[in-house]
Amino acid sequence: MDKKSSEKLAILTNAELTNEQFQRIANFIQKNVGIKMPEQKKIMVQSRLYARLKELKISNFDDYIDYVFQQNAQGEEEIALMINVITTNLTSFFRESNHFDFMTNVALPEIAKEYPSVELWSAACSSGEEPYTISIVMQEFMRTHPNAIRDFSILATDISSRMLDKAINAVYPMESVENISYDLKKRYFLRSKNKENPLVRLNPYTRGKVKFDRLNFMDDDYSISTSKNIIFCRNCLIYFDKPTQESVIRKLIKHLVPGGYLFLGHSETIFGMDLPLKTVGPTIFKKID
Ligand SMILES: C[S@@+](CC[C@H](N)C(=O)[O-])C[C@H]1O[C@@H](n2cnc3c(N)ncnc32)[C@H](O)[C@@H]1O
Repeated sequence: MDKKSSEKLAILTNAELTNEQFQRIANFIQKNVGIKMPEQKKIMVQSRLYARLKELKISNFDDYIDYVFQQNAQGEEEIALMINVITTNLTSFFRESNHFDFMTNVALPEIAKEYPSVELWSAACSSGEEPYTISIVMQEFMRTHPNAIRDFSILATDISSRMLDKAINAVYPMESVENISYDLKKRYFLRSKNKENPLVRLNPYTRGKVKFDRLNFMDDDYSISTSKNIIFCRNCLIYFDKPTQESVIRKLIKHLVPGGYLFLGHSETIFGMDLPLKTVGPTIFKKID
């Protein structure tokens, strides 16, 4: 690194987010993205925003705030990039696998009696592991229950454009599939030949069954054209306060057929909410007519 760049870097990594600057960003995020932003998140926000300051070659947070909240297209674009760094995107293939067992053993045999084609939605899909798991589970169900259903389609949405780009690319490190059985890997994944950086990619059919779109849960309503048989909304509501969680679930299940299933994350609950849902398993809910 030359002297000038290292001086610049030193300035950037010393930039401190004041309480006032943090509040400005926190209020914006809470109102527009839904994520709770208590004081304890200040250091996390500061360190994640360094990446944006570095990229933009901005040396302090006052200038960054002016930049991100300028009322024009450049500001809009930066808001999306700021959201990309603020959101937490942890996910994995077959995460909370009891949901996929329930889907195979209970939900799909029941849905198949009424619907020849199954519509699914992975809401808050992050980098794609969840919708691709769903795509694999659906293909496995069709393989092991010939003629039970004719087809399926999966909508996968997230607020983060960076995650959606990764998801569409569908390329993952080899370690991400190490807990998946050899048979499933062989059927649904392609391996890179590069021994130094071994990667896998979902096969074209598995990828083709998933359509990705950007969707913010804070929107007044979701422009989703078809009603879904199954909605996954896992490990995102946990970042929202209770009234926001309830309002998001209410908007989500508008797009669920009566008798359809909603899967939430392992520490998410509908306890105390007045919603047309009944509990049918751990964090598994069924829409009441
Ligand atoms: C921890 S990941 C969960 C991924 C996956 N559902 C799982 O359980 O493995 C949470 C995702 O929620 C997304 N998210 C956060 N706020 C959102 C919002 N307001 N609207 C839509 N997605 C949001 C984030 O971008 C992130 O990808």
